Amino acid sequence: MSLIFVFGCSNTSETEKYTIGFSQTGISDEWRKSMNQAMEIQAGFYPELELKILDSEDDIDNQLKDIEQLISEKIDILIVSPIKSKPITPIVEKAFKSGIPVLVVDRKTEGDNYTAFLGGDNYEVGTNAANYLASLTNENKRVIEIKGLAGSSPALERSLGFNDIINATKNLEVVKAIEGNWESYSIKDSLRDVLESIKDIDYIFVHNDRMALGAWEVVREKKLQDHIRIIGVDGLNGPNGGIQLVKEGKLLATILYPTGGDEAIQLALKILNGERVAKNNILSTTVIDSRNADIMNKQFDKIYQQQQDIDYQRIKIGKQEKRYTTQKQTLQLLLALLIISIILGAYSIYSGYNIRKKKRELELRNSKITIQRNQIKKIAEEVKISNEAKVNFFTGLSHEFKTPITLILSSTESLTDNKVIRDNKLLSEVGLIYNNSKRLLRLINQLLDFRKIEDRKFILKASKTNLYQFSYLIFNDFKREAQKRSINFTISTNNEDLSVFIDRNLMDKVYFNLLSNAFKFTPNNGVISIDIQDDFDSNFVKIHFKDSGIGIPKKEIDKVFQAFFQGSNNNKTSSGIGLHLSKEFIELHKGSIEVISKHGTEFVITLYKDNVHLDSDEIIYEADVVDSSLLSSHLDYEDDSVTESLVLNDEDHYSVLIIEDNLDLVKYLRGKLSLEYSVHVSDGTDAVEKALELIPDIILCDVSLPEKSGFDICEILKKDLRTSHIPIIILTALNNKESYIKGLESGADLFLTKPFSFSILAQSIKTLIYNREKLRYYFVNNVHNIDASGNFGSMEQEFISMLNKIIDNNMDNSKFSVENLANDLNISRIQLYRKMKAIMGVNVSDYIQNIRLEKAKNMLLNTPLTISEIAYATGFSSPNYFSTSFKNKYDKSPKSFRA
Ligand code: FRU
Repeated sequence: MSLIFVFGCSNTSETEKYTIGFSQTGISDEWRKSMNQAMEIQAGFYPELELKILDSEDDIDNQLKDIEQLISEKIDILIVSPIKSKPITPIVEKAFKSGIPVLVVDRKTEGDNYTAFLGGDNYEVGTNAANYLASLTNENKRVIEIKGLAGSSPALERSLGFNDIINATKNLEVVKAIEGNWESYSIKDSLRDVLESIKDIDYIFVHNDRMALGAWEVVREKKLQDHIRIIGVDGLNGPNGGIQLVKEGKLLATILYPTGGDEAIQLALKILNGERVAKNNILSTTVIDSRNADIMNKQFDKIYQQQQDIDYQRIKIGKQEKRYTTQKQTLQLLLALLIISIILGAYSIYSGYNIRKKKRELELRNSKITIQRNQIKKIAEEVKISNEAKVNFFTGLSHEFKTPITLILSSTESLTDNKVIRDNKLLSEVGLIYNNSKRLLRLINQLLDFRKIEDRKFILKASKTNLYQFSYLIFNDFKREAQKRSINFTISTNNEDLSVFIDRNLMDKVYFNLLSNAFKFTPNNGVISIDIQDDFDSNFVKIHFKDSGIGIPKKEIDKVFQAFFQGSNNNKTSSGIGLHLSKEFIELHKGSIEVISKHGTEFVITLYKDNVHLDSDEIIYEADVVDSSLLSSHLDYEDDSVTESLVLNDEDHYSVLIIEDNLDLVKYLRGKLSLEYSVHVSDGTDAVEKALELIPDIILCDVSLPEKSGFDICEILKKDLRTSHIPIIILTALNNKESYIKGLESGADLFLTKPFSFSILAQSIKTLIYNREKLRYYFVNNVHNIDASGNFGSMEQEFISMLNKIIDNNMDNSKFSVENLANDLNISRIQLYRKMKAIMGVNVSDYIQNIRLEKAKNMLLNTPLTISEIAYATGFSSPNYFSTSFKNKYDKSPKSFRA
């Protein structure tokens, strides 16, 4: 229904945008087309304008709808060319009253409810036509008038102007008026009829050129073209336009009726910009006939051409503008890039400068470092040489040691083998020499191995060996120790026949090291196992050494194979190279060793089953262990009674408790001390319990013990009321100031470093016991001054004053017994007995009795109470018993004493 033309300009972002809505009657004829075109060209010059043209197709209802639509779209200005005046007036008034400026063009509405009118002067069109005819002749002429659409203002005004002049002109007469609708088909039939009925017609004035062409066609039909001349209106340029028709002689003349398209846009813009404009804007008109048609044609062509040029220029400018915008943006971008590159350039110059500066500094530092490095290298070389010399010295010395030790060993061996010694005691001491010499030899060998490994001087001598038999022989060597310490020691395998290539000498050392460690750290009654697992699916065998010992702290597990490593929970002294050597030896076999520590420790050795991994010079032939006894025996000289206490059942002997886990040392000390003392032994695991049970007269305590250290044990005993009085001698290999201070802090009475001479130890024990005796003597004689005197250890002082207080509180209680006293002191009766014996040299009941008698003696002298009253007040069950006891102690009866 509606054809929409949109013309807009997009790149006006700053100025306000306007929409012009134009309701056009129709676009089927050239005049309307030319009007629209002029509007579009004009609007094109203003980017802020958007022109929207609605085509009503010469239908009034359509035009009403179109205007309604434009109102609802809130256009900024309405241009309307009303098809007819009356029916379109109300909607135009509505738009105007709603505040939309209204510009009426070409045809008018009724009333004046619009902003402005613009169009040709239709009355003048009529008068121009009539005046032109009048100017042609003075003869009487007859005229037909063919009118435009009835009800449209141009038809009305043109007719009015024409008739006003005709009526005033004597020789001209309008004989007939025909009603048209602006199109040629509408008048043809009527004109035919009129020409039939009315003759001698001279002129026809037609309200537009289109209907005028129709009239000419009818006139030609009637072959009256030489008699009847026609005048039209519009004067359009172009094919079938009025000017062309005049040039062709079809029309006598045409009255120019300008469309006013471009003027309409200019006027609308003024209104939009708020400028004052005239209400009526009339465009002038003129006559075009054969005399000026050609000029007009050329003029209009030229104008048209210029307009085209302008439009072309405009489009070109638009393109240029676009290109300019793009170029501007590109330029801005380039500018930004340029700025960035300048900044970067500046920065790179700056960094270049910095880098050069840094480089210079680095070069300087580098040369300093090089000098330092050279110095360090020199020092390191010197250190290496001196170290080498020292190590060589120690290695040499170690070698030197080997000979005398071997001699000692063979001598002691022959002493025992040949049964030269009959005395058991002597035999035991020789055994001690033998075992310790062997131990010394092992340590020296380890030292030499370490040196050899460091120098990479080991060459593997692997021979085919039955692994189970090999392991079993070593297992056997440790069995006796296991039995002695009630350790559940086992060996197992899933393949007794498996043979592997091992260097028996080295592997023996590995086994010995792993098992010694296991035994060292596993308490009595623990579990140790060797398990050989042949993995039938692979080329490997695994040997597991598992114990239930103290284990290795998690964070230290990675370090166990490092040389000189010692576990933080390991109180025992050791060189720390055994495991390191073991790992090196296993790796010489291309095997591996790993450690797992979880409830005890497990070492797992993995070995190849065949010999393809070994070089040919690493393999030797050796008879298998099954049929040889080539392996040296680790069999030690043993004395089964080592851990047993040697107790002389003699009250006259002082008792000694030895807390020491080195069986040889225990054996030695026990042998020596048992001549004089009643000797008890603890391996350290039950030291405190044993001390509490025995309350010995003196304690010898080692520092490196499996569970608690000697310092810890000493501290516990010294803080316990029951054992605080016992002198403690700490024996240790740690010869430094810190451990000496630690020993004193733990309350130890004496600190002896190993190796110590036995005579010094013996003398120390004697001195400590003698001092204790002296103290006891003093103590007994000052029993009543204890609270005030400061001569005793505060523990003892506290103990005695507590004891005295309890006895004093029970002075008149004849049923108060030793049990009651022990209970109140929170110790056992026997502990109380031993403690009293130790610090006072008396038994407890005598002590209580003494206090009672002392008190009674005092009362006899200082109170008037009767003897029997005193007896009961001091806790004697009867006066008789009191008298007897008193006489026993003081050699006088209470009565005679008082007298
Ligand atoms: C075009 C037209 C013209 C005439 C005008 C009057 O539609 O018919 O030929 O001059 O309208 O409004």
